[in-house]
Amino acid sequence: MPTALITGASRGLGAAIAQELESTHRILLGGRDEAALQPLADHLPDADPWTVDLTDRAAVSEAASTVKSLDVLVHNAGMAEIGSIRDTPLSVWESTLEVNLLAIVHLTRELLPALRLAGGHVVLINSGAGLRANAGWSAYAASKFALRAFADALRLEEPALRVTSIFPGRIDTDMQRSIVATEGREYEPDEFLRPATVAQAVAHAIRMPRDGHPTEVVLRPKRT
Ligand SMILES: NC(=O)c1ccc[n+]([C@@H]2O[C@H](COP(=O)([O-])OP(=O)(O)OC[C@H]3O[C@@H](n4cnc5c(N)ncnc54)[C@H](OP(=O)(O)O)[C@@H]3O)[C@@H](O)[C@H]2O)c1
Repeated sequence: MPTALITGASRGLGAAIAQELESTHRILLGGRDEAALQPLADHLPDADPWTVDLTDRAAVSEAASTVKSLDVLVHNAGMAEIGSIRDTPLSVWESTLEVNLLAIVHLTRELLPALRLAGGHVVLINSGAGLRANAGWSAYAASKFALRAFADALRLEEPALRVTSIFPGRIDTDMQRSIVATEGREYEPDEFLRPATVAQAVAHAIRMPRDGHPTEVVLRPKRT
Protein backbone atom coordinates (compact mmCIF):
# COMPACT_ATOMS: atom_id res chain seq x y z
CA MET A 1 0.00 0.00 0.00
CA PRO A 2 1.32 3.52 -0.76
CA THR A 3 2.26 5.71 2.22
CA ALA A 4 0.85 9.19 2.87
CA LEU A 5 2.16 11.66 5.47
CA ILE A 6 -0.43 14.27 6.45
CA THR A 7 0.67 17.18 8.65
CA GLY A 8 -1.79 18.71 11.12
CA ALA A 9 -3.77 15.46 11.24
CA SER A 10 -4.85 15.93 14.88
CA ARG A 11 -8.06 17.77 13.93
CA GLY A 12 -9.85 19.85 11.31
CA LEU A 13 -9.05 19.31 7.65
CA GLY A 14 -5.98 17.12 8.32
CA ALA A 15 -8.02 14.54 10.27
CA ALA A 16 -10.63 14.52 7.47
CA ILE A 17 -7.93 13.92 4.83
CA ALA A 18 -6.57 10.99 6.87
CA GLN A 19 -10.05 9.45 7.04
CA GLU A 20 -10.58 9.98 3.32
CA LEU A 21 -7.27 8.32 2.34
CA GLU A 22 -7.39 5.42 4.82
CA SER A 23 -8.85 2.90 2.34
CA THR A 24 -6.01 3.35 -0.15
CA HIS A 25 -2.98 4.45 1.91
CA ARG A 26 -0.91 3.64 4.94
CA ILE A 27 -1.12 6.90 6.89
CA LEU A 28 1.49 8.76 8.93
CA LEU A 29 -0.51 11.15 11.12
CA GLY A 30 1.56 14.32 11.59
CA GLY A 31 0.98 16.34 14.76
CA ARG A 32 2.58 17.85 17.83
CA ASP A 33 0.77 15.85 20.48
CA GLU A 34 0.88 12.04 20.30
CA ALA A 35 -2.07 11.73 22.73
CA ALA A 36 -4.22 13.82 20.35
CA LEU A 37 -3.26 11.61 17.38
CA GLN A 38 -3.67 8.21 19.05
CA PRO A 39 -7.52 7.99 18.96
CA LEU A 40 -7.48 8.59 15.19
CA ALA A 41 -4.60 6.10 14.74
CA ASP A 42 -6.60 3.49 16.70
CA HIS A 43 -9.67 4.13 14.55
CA LEU A 44 -7.90 3.77 11.16
CA PRO A 45 -6.79 0.37 9.85
CA ASP A 46 -3.16 1.27 9.00
CA ALA A 47 -2.10 4.55 10.61
CA ASP A 48 0.62 5.66 13.02
CA PRO A 49 1.28 8.96 14.78
CA TRP A 50 4.24 10.90 13.33
CA THR A 51 4.83 13.30 16.18
CA VAL A 52 6.90 16.44 15.71
CA ASP A 53 6.57 20.20 16.13
CA LEU A 54 7.05 21.39 12.56
CA THR A 55 8.85 24.54 13.71
CA ASP A 56 11.64 22.54 15.39
CA ARG A 57 14.19 22.16 12.56
CA ALA A 58 16.35 19.46 14.21
CA ALA A 59 13.34 17.38 15.32
CA VAL A 60 11.83 17.58 11.83
CA SER A 61 15.12 16.45 10.25
CA GLU A 62 15.28 13.50 12.63
CA ALA A 63 11.63 12.50 12.07
CA ALA A 64 12.03 12.82 8.29
CA SER A 65 15.09 10.57 8.32
CA THR A 66 12.84 7.65 9.41
CA VAL A 67 10.81 7.96 6.17
CA LYS A 68 12.66 6.13 3.40
CA SER A 69 10.04 6.21 0.64
CA LEU A 70 6.99 8.47 0.48
CA ASP A 71 4.16 8.40 -2.07
CA VAL A 72 2.11 11.34 -0.78
CA LEU A 73 3.00 14.34 1.38
CA VAL A 74 0.09 16.58 2.37
CA HIS A 75 1.23 19.89 3.86
CA ASN A 76 -1.93 20.71 5.79
CA ALA A 77 -0.75 22.12 9.16
CA GLY A 78 -1.17 25.88 9.30
CA MET A 79 -2.15 28.87 11.40
CA ALA A 80 -4.20 32.02 10.84
CA GLU A 81 -4.26 35.13 12.98
CA ILE A 82 -6.18 37.91 11.32
CA GLY A 83 -5.96 41.63 11.97
CA SER A 84 -5.01 44.89 10.26
CA ILE A 85 -1.40 45.67 9.36
CA ARG A 86 -1.46 48.42 11.99
CA ASP A 87 -2.62 46.05 14.74
CA THR A 88 -0.63 42.93 13.80
CA PRO A 89 2.71 42.79 15.64
CA LEU A 90 5.80 41.55 13.81
CA SER A 91 5.82 38.46 16.03
CA VAL A 92 2.56 37.31 14.36
CA TRP A 93 4.11 37.81 10.92
CA GLU A 94 7.10 35.76 12.05
CA SER A 95 5.06 32.85 13.44
CA THR A 96 2.70 32.87 10.44
CA LEU A 97 5.55 32.76 7.91
CA GLU A 98 7.32 30.18 10.07
CA VAL A 99 4.40 27.70 10.25
CA ASN A 100 2.77 28.36 6.86
CA LEU A 101 5.95 28.65 4.76
CA LEU A 102 9.39 27.96 6.27
CA ALA A 103 8.38 24.77 8.13
CA ILE A 104 6.91 23.47 4.85
CA VAL A 105 10.06 24.35 2.90
CA HIS A 106 12.21 22.55 5.47
CA LEU A 107 10.05 19.42 5.67
CA THR A 108 9.83 19.20 1.86
CA ARG A 109 13.61 19.47 1.49
CA GLU A 110 14.17 16.79 4.13
CA LEU A 111 11.70 14.42 2.42
CA LEU A 112 12.81 15.02 -1.19
CA PRO A 113 14.89 11.80 -1.41
CA ALA A 114 11.94 9.72 -0.15
CA LEU A 115 9.53 11.49 -2.51
CA ARG A 116 11.84 11.08 -5.52
CA LEU A 117 12.26 7.37 -4.77
CA ALA A 118 8.49 6.86 -4.88
CA GLY A 119 7.77 9.33 -7.72
CA GLY A 120 5.62 11.01 -5.08
CA HIS A 121 2.88 13.60 -4.90
CA VAL A 122 3.15 16.78 -2.80
CA VAL A 123 -0.17 18.42 -1.91
CA LEU A 124 -0.10 21.90 -0.37
CA ILE A 125 -3.21 23.15 1.42
CA ASN A 126 -3.30 26.78 0.39
CA SER A 127 -6.37 29.05 0.69
CA GLY A 128 -8.51 31.52 -1.21
CA ALA A 129 -6.28 34.01 0.64
CA GLY A 130 -3.38 32.69 -1.47
CA LEU A 131 -5.15 34.01 -4.59
CA ARG A 132 -6.59 37.32 -3.27
CA ALA A 133 -5.33 39.42 -0.35
CA ASN A 134 -8.15 41.10 1.54
CA ALA A 135 -7.95 43.83 4.19
CA GLY A 136 -7.23 42.30 7.59
CA TRP A 137 -5.59 39.20 6.16
CA SER A 138 -2.12 40.48 5.23
CA ALA A 139 0.17 38.10 7.18
CA TYR A 140 -1.89 34.99 6.36
CA ALA A 141 -2.33 36.00 2.71
CA ALA A 142 1.39 36.77 2.34
CA SER A 143 2.27 33.33 3.73
CA LYS A 144 -0.15 31.61 1.35
CA PHE A 145 0.96 33.65 -1.71
CA ALA A 146 4.52 32.59 -0.88
CA LEU A 147 3.41 28.98 -0.46
CA ARG A 148 1.92 29.09 -3.94
CA ALA A 149 5.22 30.36 -5.36
CA PHE A 150 7.06 27.57 -3.55
CA ALA A 151 4.69 24.96 -5.02
CA ASP A 152 5.07 26.37 -8.55
CA ALA A 153 8.88 26.33 -8.32
CA LEU A 154 8.91 22.81 -6.82
CA ARG A 155 6.75 21.54 -9.70
CA LEU A 156 9.22 22.92 -12.25
CA GLU A 157 12.36 21.79 -10.42
CA GLU A 158 11.19 18.25 -9.61
CA PRO A 159 9.54 16.92 -12.77
CA ALA A 160 9.35 13.36 -11.38
CA LEU A 161 6.92 14.58 -8.69
CA ARG A 162 3.34 15.79 -8.90
CA VAL A 163 2.72 19.03 -6.97
CA THR A 164 -0.82 20.23 -6.28
CA SER A 165 -1.93 23.47 -4.60
CA ILE A 166 -5.43 23.28 -3.11
CA PHE A 167 -7.21 26.64 -2.64
CA PRO A 168 -10.27 26.12 -0.43
CA GLY A 169 -12.61 28.84 0.76
CA ARG A 170 -13.65 28.94 4.44
CA ILE A 171 -13.92 25.50 6.09
CA ASP A 172 -15.87 24.55 9.25
CA THR A 173 -12.90 23.91 11.62
CA ASP A 174 -11.41 25.29 14.85
CA MET A 175 -9.39 27.76 12.73
CA GLN A 176 -12.58 29.19 11.21
CA ARG A 177 -14.29 29.38 14.62
CA SER A 178 -11.49 31.53 15.94
CA ILE A 179 -11.45 33.74 12.80
CA VAL A 180 -15.22 34.32 13.04
CA ALA A 181 -14.85 35.11 16.77
CA THR A 182 -12.19 37.73 15.91
CA GLU A 183 -14.53 39.17 13.27
CA GLY A 184 -17.19 39.42 16.01
CA ARG A 185 -19.79 37.47 14.03
CA GLU A 186 -22.11 34.57 14.86
CA TYR A 187 -20.67 31.17 13.83
CA GLU A 188 -22.91 29.40 11.30
CA PRO A 189 -21.26 26.07 10.30
CA ASP A 190 -23.50 25.75 7.24
CA GLU A 191 -21.90 28.85 5.68
CA PHE A 192 -18.64 26.96 5.31
CA LEU A 193 -17.19 23.99 3.41
CA ARG A 194 -17.28 20.72 5.34
CA PRO A 195 -13.79 19.31 6.04
CA ALA A 196 -14.88 16.00 4.46
CA THR A 197 -15.77 17.81 1.21
CA VAL A 198 -12.33 19.43 0.94
CA ALA A 199 -10.75 16.08 1.86
CA GLN A 200 -12.59 14.50 -1.08
CA ALA A 201 -11.07 17.08 -3.44
CA VAL A 202 -7.61 16.31 -2.03
CA ALA A 203 -8.14 12.55 -2.44
CA HIS A 204 -9.44 13.04 -5.99
CA ALA A 205 -6.22 14.88 -6.93
CA ILE A 206 -4.10 12.15 -5.31
CA ARG A 207 -6.01 9.28 -6.97
CA MET A 208 -5.96 10.88 -10.41
CA PRO A 209 -4.24 8.52 -12.89
CA ARG A 210 -0.56 9.36 -13.32
CA ASP A 211 -0.93 10.79 -16.81
CA GLY A 212 -2.86 13.68 -15.19
CA HIS A 213 -1.14 16.39 -13.14
CA PRO A 214 -3.69 18.37 -11.12
CA THR A 215 -1.63 21.51 -10.51
CA GLU A 216 -4.30 23.65 -8.81
CA VAL A 217 -7.71 22.94 -7.30
CA VAL A 218 -9.96 25.88 -6.31
CA LEU A 219 -12.98 25.14 -4.12
CA ARG A 220 -15.55 27.64 -2.78
CA PRO A 221 -18.49 27.06 -0.40
CA LYS A 222 -21.71 26.67 -2.40
CA ARG A 223 -24.15 29.41 -1.39
CA THR A 224 -27.61 27.97 -0.66
N1 LIG B 1 -10.39 26.59 8.13
C1 LIG B 1 -10.45 27.32 7.02
O1 LIG B 1 -11.40 28.08 6.81
C2 LIG B 1 -9.38 27.18 5.97
C3 LIG B 1 -9.63 27.72 4.69
C4 LIG B 1 -8.65 27.60 3.71
C5 LIG B 1 -7.46 26.97 3.99
N2 LIG B 1 -7.23 26.46 5.24
C6 LIG B 1 -5.96 25.79 5.50
O2 LIG B 1 -6.23 24.44 5.82
C7 LIG B 1 -5.20 23.92 6.66
C8 LIG B 1 -5.81 23.23 7.86
O3 LIG B 1 -6.56 24.19 8.59
P1 LIG B 1 -7.67 23.81 9.69
O4 LIG B 1 -8.79 24.76 9.45
O5 LIG B 1 -7.91 22.36 9.74
O6 LIG B 1 -6.88 24.34 10.99
P2 LIG B 1 -6.98 23.94 12.54
O7 LIG B 1 -8.31 23.36 12.83
O8 LIG B 1 -6.56 25.16 13.28
O9 LIG B 1 -5.85 22.81 12.66
C9 LIG B 1 -4.50 23.19 12.42
C10 LIG B 1 -3.64 21.95 12.43
O10 LIG B 1 -2.28 22.35 12.20
C11 LIG B 1 -1.47 21.83 13.24
N3 LIG B 1 -0.32 22.68 13.54
C12 LIG B 1 -0.31 24.02 13.71
N4 LIG B 1 0.94 24.43 14.02
C13 LIG B 1 1.72 23.31 14.04
C14 LIG B 1 3.10 23.07 14.31
N5 LIG B 1 3.95 24.06 14.63
N6 LIG B 1 3.56 21.79 14.26
C15 LIG B 1 2.73 20.78 13.96
N7 LIG B 1 1.42 20.95 13.69
C16 LIG B 1 0.93 22.20 13.74
C17 LIG B 1 -2.41 21.73 14.45
O11 LIG B 1 -1.87 20.84 15.41
P3 LIG B 1 -2.28 20.92 16.97
O12 LIG B 1 -3.56 20.12 17.11
O13 LIG B 1 -1.11 20.31 17.65
O14 LIG B 1 -2.47 22.38 17.31
C18 LIG B 1 -3.69 21.23 13.76
O15 LIG B 1 -3.62 19.83 13.53
C19 LIG B 1 -4.30 25.13 7.01
O16 LIG B 1 -3.16 25.12 6.18
C20 LIG B 1 -5.19 26.33 6.69
O17 LIG B 1 -4.43 27.48 6.38
C21 LIG B 1 -8.17 26.54 6.24
